Amino acid sequence: MQLAAARPFAVIDDVRHWLACDPGHDRLRAVLGKALARAGRPGSDAVATGRAAPARIYDYFLGGKDNYAVDRDAAREILAAVPAAADAARANRAFVRRAVRYMAGEGGIGQFLDVGAGLPTRGNVHEIARAERPGARVVYVDNDPVVLTHGRAILEDSAHVAVVSGDLRDPDAIWRRRRLRELIDPAEPVGVLLCGVLHFLSDAEDPFALVERLTAGLPPGSLVAVTHAWFGDLEPGAADRALAVYRRSTAEVRPRTPDEIARFLTGFAPVEPGLVAVTDWRPDTATDRVGCVLGAVGRRV
Ligand SMILES: C[S@@+](CC[C@H](N)C(=O)[O-])C[C@H]1O[C@@H](n2cnc3c(N)ncnc32)[C@H](O)[C@@H]1O
Repeated sequence: MQLAAARPFAVIDDVRHWLACDPGHDRLRAVLGKALARAGRPGSDAVATGRAAPARIYDYFLGGKDNYAVDRDAAREILAAVPAAADAARANRAFVRRAVRYMAGEGGIGQFLDVGAGLPTRGNVHEIARAERPGARVVYVDNDPVVLTHGRAILEDSAHVAVVSGDLRDPDAIWRRRRLRELIDPAEPVGVLLCGVLHFLSDAEDPFALVERLTAGLPPGSLVAVTHAWFGDLEPGAADRALAVYRRSTAEVRPRTPDEIARFLTGFAPVEPGLVAVTDWRPDTATDRVGCVLGAVGRRV
């Protein structure tokens, strides 16, 4: 047996995959926990520990079905503290759709890199991009094994779409992925999506340097879309209660101020209307303002 023979790495990916398909399988979870411990990564895996995960909490807010009891409990706790949380998730996703439509249409972008892509949902990036620009190529990147399993099953519907494992904390490794290099030509403008993901990076991880590194080689005409939590409008108590739920999940949230969020787009010229509440960024129809998520698109000049 591979585990007994002390080759834990050989089983981790397979067991993660099986667990993603059957998250309630306690024996599999135990095997994964043991393999991770032997690999020197005890407790480092969402599925192994049964903790809530941001991708699945977000899926619940969007009305999706790819979430488990632990995620739904966390989401309800967040909603009790911040009743606008589900509206904020929907507003964030609507921004993603409008930003991709802008990038593929007016922005002339034919290749997309979506980092922190999340679970498949209604109006996935490649569907929106292709409606504007048939043949658009999209690489989805995420660090959550459940997202990768569901994404591969649902999103990889053509040779022009790939779902790859990657972590924003290691931008160079993302650019080294074979499928990414097959689909994205770094000499041509790229549309990079960093939506709902940057607030999962702590200050200690130097998120500004990570984004600079990820976007360093992008040629002029490239566009970057960013959305980020800002809790300036919330009562301090409400924000603290929501943040405490994320602290118990697989990734903490670090909300930032508008000035800090704007810093992520250093080196990019803001596309009108600049950094605003996501509901105020080129809305299709009049919608109620949701102030706790800010968004912007920047162009490399
Ligand atoms: C709230 S969802 C956002 C999904 C989508 N981008 C959107 O805005 O609709 C955040 C996603 O970021 C992923 N994520 C969090 N930290 C990450 C990291 N360091 N590297 C890659 N993905 C990450 C999570 O797994 C999750 O799927």
